[in-house]
Amino acid sequence: MPIITNIEDLRRIARRKIPRVIYDYVERGSYDELTLNANRNDLDAIRLRQRVLIDVSKVSLASTMLGEPVSMPVAIAPTGLTGLVHGDGEMLAARAAEGAGTRFCLSTMSICSIEDVRSVVKQPFWFQLYMFRDRGFSKAVIERARNAGCTALFVTVDLPMRGQRHADIKNGLTVPPRLTVRNAFDIATKPAWLAKVLLGKRKTFGNVAPYLEGRAGLEQAGAWSNQNFDRSLNWRDVEWVRSLWPGKLVLKGVLDVEDAKTAASAGVDGIVVSNHGGRQLDGAHSTIAALPAIAGAVGDRLELLFDGGIRSGQDVLKALGRGAHGCLIGRAYLYGLAAAGEAGVRQALEVIRAELEVAMTLTGTRDVKSVTREVIG
Ligand SMILES: Cc1cc2nc3c(=O)[nH]c(=O)nc-3n(C[C@H](O)[C@H](O)[C@H](O)COP(=O)(O)O)c2cc1C
Repeated sequence: MPIITNIEDLRRIARRKIPRVIYDYVERGSYDELTLNANRNDLDAIRLRQRVLIDVSKVSLASTMLGEPVSMPVAIAPTGLTGLVHGDGEMLAARAAEGAGTRFCLSTMSICSIEDVRSVVKQPFWFQLYMFRDRGFSKAVIERARNAGCTALFVTVDLPMRGQRHADIKNGLTVPPRLTVRNAFDIATKPAWLAKVLLGKRKTFGNVAPYLEGRAGLEQAGAWSNQNFDRSLNWRDVEWVRSLWPGKLVLKGVLDVEDAKTAASAGVDGIVVSNHGGRQLDGAHSTIAALPAIAGAVGDRLELLFDGGIRSGQDVLKALGRGAHGCLIGRAYLYGLAAAGEAGVRQALEVIRAELEVAMTLTGTRDVKSVTREVIG
């Protein structure tokens, strides 16, 4: 493995190691990718304040997320199809998060099932729920997450229907992946992926497929989700989920201050300020641009998690400076997973941790729990 100094190094290796169709699924955003790019550009445009002659001989990164102790306020975001990025991807990422002293959030649309992940970790993980039209499924999957000891439920609210990602259509993304004349050469040059994913045991939706047994249509995941995701989802459904879930409840995908205020009075514990990593409403604000107003309005009432564009520890500090209590990473960990499995995810987390420590030191920040907007120039 070449020397890794940053997340970009992992991305470059990932690009070489996995087939184009999977890489593009991870990397790309919806439509013209304006929001995808804004997430990164707006973070890049923020300047941190260099402070000097402050005793920073002791710097603490330890914090809590949703009331649970973490070694740094950075956890793994829920991402669908992760077991196609690397064989048993969700299980490996959950283990890496545990090893790094932080949390992993499993997607409803994962390849490994809730029970698969449960079987490889000792600490609790979090579960992300997509609400389908069939509330029987939601109820059953919430029950499974409870039985697996999940401590927090993230209800994703920014996907009543799917934003289009042109690349997935052009590349012919299917679940399970298919070997075709068009992708045969590409796949033949990725032997490790071929062995671990295409010839591996888990390659369809671990949580959803058993429930759909015999019903057609899941393979074209995009079309399927548009038919089955519930466009009628509204605040009353949040009450319904609240009545079923005794643990921490988080709404993922809030970007507007009015929605954040409603969330604060809806009995949830937190929100993730997120635009789905630029994969949904193209033309929406970047998450870092939306964060300060939301933090000002509800930051004292809700735990504010943040995602979108985080590729470094400096980015994490910027988000904390703008009012987030903690951050989630999506693509940054997926690059690590594609590059080197569990060790690669661990490496992604450690790169970000080391960068965060340096950024805190050079801004005179001793405790990650008390970062304020003073850190931003
Ligand atoms: C490949 C991929 C799959 C994703 N799948 C899901 C998902 O199943 N559920 C969900 O709530 N968010 C999903 N997301 C959004 C992430 O949870 C997160 O909001 C986003 O990745 C953050 O942006 P970043 O990738 O720039 O860190 C996905 C993101 C990516 C990149």
